[in-house]
Amino acid sequence: MKDLIITIFGSTGDLTSRKLLPAISKLYQNRQIPEHTLVICLGRRTYQTKAYLEAMNETAAAPLNVALLEKIVTYQHIEITDPNDYDNLVSLIKKERKEDTKELYYLAVGPELFPVLSTHINQSQLVLKGNLNQSIIFEKPFGSDLKSAKEINQLLWQFFDEKQIYRIDHYLGKEMIQNIMMVRFANRIFEEIWHNRSIKSVKIIAKEQDGILGRAGYYDTSGALKDMVQSHLLQMLSLIAMEVPLSYFSDDVKDEKVKVLNHLSFDKDHMIFGQYDGYLLEKNIPKSSQTETFVCIKAFVNTPRFKGVPFYLYTGKKLDKKESMIIIEFEETNEQRKWNLPLSTNKLYIKIDPLDGVGLMLNSKVPGLRNNVEEVELEYCSACQAVGNMSEAYEKLILDITEGHKTLFTRWDEIELSWHFIDQVKAHQREPFIYHSVEEMKQKVKDVMGEDFK
Ligand code: BG6
Repeated sequence: MKDLIITIFGSTGDLTSRKLLPAISKLYQNRQIPEHTLVICLGRRTYQTKAYLEAMNETAAAPLNVALLEKIVTYQHIEITDPNDYDNLVSLIKKERKEDTKELYYLAVGPELFPVLSTHINQSQLVLKGNLNQSIIFEKPFGSDLKSAKEINQLLWQFFDEKQIYRIDHYLGKEMIQNIMMVRFANRIFEEIWHNRSIKSVKIIAKEQDGILGRAGYYDTSGALKDMVQSHLLQMLSLIAMEVPLSYFSDDVKDEKVKVLNHLSFDKDHMIFGQYDGYLLEKNIPKSSQTETFVCIKAFVNTPRFKGVPFYLYTGKKLDKKESMIIIEFEETNEQRKWNLPLSTNKLYIKIDPLDGVGLMLNSKVPGLRNNVEEVELEYCSACQAVGNMSEAYEKLILDITEGHKTLFTRWDEIELSWHFIDQVKAHQREPFIYHSVEEMKQKVKDVMGEDFK
């Protein structure tokens, strides 16, 4: 009998090998999840469990702890439209289930499969509406536009209680994203100046060095806008721009994030869509594809607090480095303005990946006999403090699901508003600019946005 059963649909995909299995094995190793845990990995291919784990090990980003995983994982073949396969699954789970067993059903598949899987999960009574020991988890993206997202959501609400539904945006599980509210609301020096009288611009950046890593089928229908902006970047934006919530309980925080998304607009004359040179040569990408692998949008949050402050949303593949960060740039000082001094502006860096932390850029005198000024950084590296202990986003998220905590998951209205925004941007999308080098892209951004990005 098990205390926890995690069932993964789509378990032969790269999300499972790169993120879910590493997270589960680390949680298990660190005794964060029960000793009596069973992980049922489901997929179309036929495998023995050991062979499955070895195959996953080959595609994982870092070696998997196969010996440990063998103790808790069992692989099972499934045809996702065959009711008999669901019946077999129900029998397996019934054998292992106790009255208080927690059951997680993780749909690590594209959104086009959410309806068929949810329907079978419901019809086979694998998950019963209202049973809070059973949670059903949907990987992002939740839909491919507003219309499809609405259709999926309507269906889910027929089959499951909202309390059982977890919509994943793994950025919310990252340490520094969880820290944004702390930095904002627990530090007087920031709380006092967090508005358009002091803040000049906000840059939300997620750069990647990798290309599409063999995910042509998904990526070419998605592009950077739907893959990154709709979820991760808009989540970061709403945490930066929201008002102080009534409490830090999940719904109060989400109510404030939703207000931000409700007041979002963009400048259609300041948008860049790019595609890296070589994208069309990637396996399974149509030669005429116009999918963007880079996007930069100048957006605005039209609330009294942030009216007029540009929020730049910047993300792309095949750029100079892997780096996600938020840069809050402050206005010049009065002295700086009065004397037109060639000083830098203060900037707060919220560093999300790869090295989480906070940096504050200040002007300071260069030590020595002359009165020269230089820009210096006060830096706090949270990853450095927690060497070896930093948890991965998916560890945090899986743990929270087992404990029924919903703060780090997106609520339907957040998703609805973010798709609404993306659909509007999409309507103004132009042919992508082909970037042959990072320098070329930087120059383009400078020309269009009048801004440098780190
Ligand atoms: C995923 C996107 O949601 O986030 C990927 O589908 C992207 O295309 C990834 O590479 C980036 O996440 P992270 O955690 O590596 O910054």
